[in-house]
Amino acid sequence: MSQTLSSPDTIAKELAEKIRSRGARAGVVGLGYVGLPLAVELAKAGFEVTGIDVSEAKTQRVNLGDSYVGDISSEVLEPLVRSGKLRATTDFAAVKDLDTINICVPTPLRKTKDPDMSYIVSACEKIAMQLHPGMLVILESTTYPGTTDELLLPMLSANGFAVGRDFFLCFSPERVDPGNPKFQTVNIPKVVGGCTPACTELGRLFYSQALEHVVPVSSTRVAEMVKLLENTFRMINIGLANEIALMCDRMDINVWEVIDAAATKPFGFMPFYPGPGLGGHCIPIDPFYLSWKTKQAGIEARFIELAGYINGQMPHFVVEKVQDALNNAVKAVRGSRIHILGVAYKRDIDDVRESPALDVMLLLKRLGATVSYSDPHVPALHLDGLDLVAQPPEAAGAADCAVIVTDHSAFDYKALVQNAQLIVDTRNALRGVQSPKIVRL
Ligand SMILES: NC(=O)c1ccc[n+]([C@@H]2O[C@H](COP(=O)([O-])OP(=O)(O)OC[C@H]3O[C@@H](n4cnc5c(N)ncnc54)[C@H](O)[C@@H]3O)[C@@H](O)[C@H]2O)c1
Repeated sequence: MSQTLSSPDTIAKELAEKIRSRGARAGVVGLGYVGLPLAVELAKAGFEVTGIDVSEAKTQRVNLGDSYVGDISSEVLEPLVRSGKLRATTDFAAVKDLDTINICVPTPLRKTKDPDMSYIVSACEKIAMQLHPGMLVILESTTYPGTTDELLLPMLSANGFAVGRDFFLCFSPERVDPGNPKFQTVNIPKVVGGCTPACTELGRLFYSQALEHVVPVSSTRVAEMVKLLENTFRMINIGLANEIALMCDRMDINVWEVIDAAATKPFGFMPFYPGPGLGGHCIPIDPFYLSWKTKQAGIEARFIELAGYINGQMPHFVVEKVQDALNNAVKAVRGSRIHILGVAYKRDIDDVRESPALDVMLLLKRLGATVSYSDPHVPALHLDGLDLVAQPPEAAGAADCAVIVTDHSAFDYKALVQNAQLIVDTRNALRGVQSPKIVRL
């Protein structure tokens, strides 16, 4: 037992004991890409887990053992549900019986690029109504530094409970990488920082029951900033790779060959790759949480704004590439059939949130092209008032131009090169293949 928990604080000691014995009743609020895998890991570790979500459809599927998250198979979920280790509900009354709660609700940006805290606030209001002494609450949603201290803490303390004594509050960034077979919730190191040392210690203790490696930090703000540094680092380096791609295009240099050769340097270089633009719920969004917050402190996050601008230009650049390719084939975009391969925001997942494929399709449609798509992970798509249904990849052969936007491993690239008339490859999926049909980013 650590220094902090050996204090005479009985509430903390009792909770620590419940956590150690796995007798603590764990709750996860928000059963999406982050929450469901976490709920599964906690249940696998022996906790009795209650998932709470506003979506009736999701809670029903969880209770049937039917997974809707790619990284969790129903074969893993179903036995946990059947054995009573995991259940889901839409009713926040469940909070009154819980000892721990992880909040994993969405944190999107508003159209103005301001953080939308409404999901966190709504979940926290309902938790606050049922808060009782001896609870550990951990926010996992990505957010700006200060959220846990400035927003959650006042809500949870409103009824007179003292943090670090009556209840415990932490922030722990979620780092899950959907579709990554090597690193999943259980083996991605978990950073956690609490409002007080006792909070941090209980957070560390809780995660270490279920996850392989826990990294305690000194405060919630440090933990919040860790996530923003990680995602800002990625966003800016992708922005640099995209800018280098635009430069190489002008100078007729193969950017992919340049990056591969640079990556042979055993120190001081880490490869990032260009592409059709940023997608997903994290990299295009999280850095703007930071720039929003720093603006209030009088600091302009110039790297973030610049990388955001360059990355935002990439769908337009892809459309230019399609235009050039069609021009060379003496065809115009207007009236052409363009087939998009891959609409999820990254390889081998089913998530289309913020996907650059949607921008590319929309831009082409506005230029008068007829757009279709294939994606083994996305059977249907709603785009600009149109309901599209995924076509088999062979449909690329009937199009004037095929555009590889997301390089899913299920695509047969050899067959594509044989069948397609023209291919714009934004991901270097056709690396090493030489053909006059191929136009690379
Ligand atoms: N998806 C990722 O790869 C990823 C990675 C790291 C961090 N994150 C962060 O984790 C958080 C959750 O992301 P996600 O991808 O799991 O989102 P998601 O949309 O897949 O899941 C969020 C869930 O919360 C539910 N929900 C919304 N409001 C609620 C409320 N008031 N009470 C209860 N449930 C509510 C939704 O119905 C949904 O099921 C976000 O802050 C995100 O930035 C996501």
